Amino acid sequence: MKTRRYQVKKEVETILKHGHPWIFKSHLSSASSVFKSGDCLALMNAANEVLAYGIFEKDALIAIRIIKFGKTPPDAEWLKSKLKKCLLKRENIKNFTEGYRAIHGENDGFPGVVFDVYHKTGVLQTYVPSVDSIGRYLAKVLQKELQLETVIWKAPSRRKKPGVTRILYGSHPKVQWMREGKLKVAVDIGEGQKSGTFLDLRGLRKFLALQNLKGKRVLNLFSYTGTLGLAAEVAGASEIWNVDISKGALKFSETHHSLDKKKYRYVAADIFHWVESLPPFEKFDVIIVDPPSMASDAKQVPVALKAYAKIYRRVLPHLKHKGMMIVCCCTSRISRAKFTEVAKKSLSSTLPKMKSLPSEDDHPVGFPEGDYLKMFVFS
Ligand SMILES: C[S@@+](CC[C@H](N)C(=O)[O-])C[C@H]1O[C@@H](n2cnc3c(N)ncnc32)[C@H](O)[C@@H]1O
Repeated sequence: MKTRRYQVKKEVETILKHGHPWIFKSHLSSASSVFKSGDCLALMNAANEVLAYGIFEKDALIAIRIIKFGKTPPDAEWLKSKLKKCLLKRENIKNFTEGYRAIHGENDGFPGVVFDVYHKTGVLQTYVPSVDSIGRYLAKVLQKELQLETVIWKAPSRRKKPGVTRILYGSHPKVQWMREGKLKVAVDIGEGQKSGTFLDLRGLRKFLALQNLKGKRVLNLFSYTGTLGLAAEVAGASEIWNVDISKGALKFSETHHSLDKKKYRYVAADIFHWVESLPPFEKFDVIIVDPPSMASDAKQVPVALKAYAKIYRRVLPHLKHKGMMIVCCCTSRISRAKFTEVAKKSLSSTLPKMKSLPSEDDHPVGFPEGDYLKMFVFS
């Protein structure tokens, strides 16, 4: 990899010493104006010692993403050996499921690159153009290493042309099935959100599938394709309501994620309004609330937290005595401490026990912003 040298300010040196993988635009000197997106920079201190290597992105808030700390530059062999270590960490998960995240971006030391595996299909997502070529290289290595039949390159929703997909290898499967413990999960790779499904909710699906929900009623709010509902059904639930604004996601749940269709009710609605019309006599043993992120910048955080708290207050009266309420938050903008505070304030007086579900090994948390998913069970 060809590198260009760049002497960083003292404050950047401190950031690098703490091992943080992002350098913001506001921390750069005017000397950085000569660089192009995708340039690999050798970041030096005032004594001309190289501290780290990073990929430059022009006109972006995160201007440099660190690919390697230390003096020696990154090369193809180094990338491959790092990838091998990454895959080794996933060995245990592969005994449980055919669907896992092989590369989890910065958390695994591969900035801006995510690679999900669904049985024989791999899905690459690159979050900024400057990491496209690294991402494609890693996808090529993974295709061979994991003997994938298909590799898709899908633009994440935050990129300018979200949803655009390209086939890098093989042919595009409309729906890819994967085993996950006792569940058979269908993944809508072309039309689906994220890389096709929410792999990061595996810990919650596992938790639900292990409960004794025989004869229980479950309200699954923000259900997407209904994989949490399916986990509840496997655990014995007798009635499951999947509620989401996306008719397509609900149709997909109905087609793929129900063992006994008679147990299901599908509601296409804006949940923030719909909860107001839920009749008081409708009571559930389990209520799941997994809203979308709602806070792409810091200014939106108070509004999102208010909306979360409002929903909890509205649905709590619909929880039966000894019931369980599960609340999730999927944005790193909202800190774990803040989300805990809001969830506890809304729920703890009725449901005093709180359990936090940990992230799985294929979703490591490598830096503060990497702690995006919070999943709490109140009972
Ligand atoms: C984080 S995802 C939920 C993932 C889901 N729990 C699962 O098991 O895969 C958020 C979901 O909220 C839905 N959504 C967004 N805004 C909504 C609204 N106002 N009312 C209902 N659903 C909404 C989206 O369609 C998306 O499926």
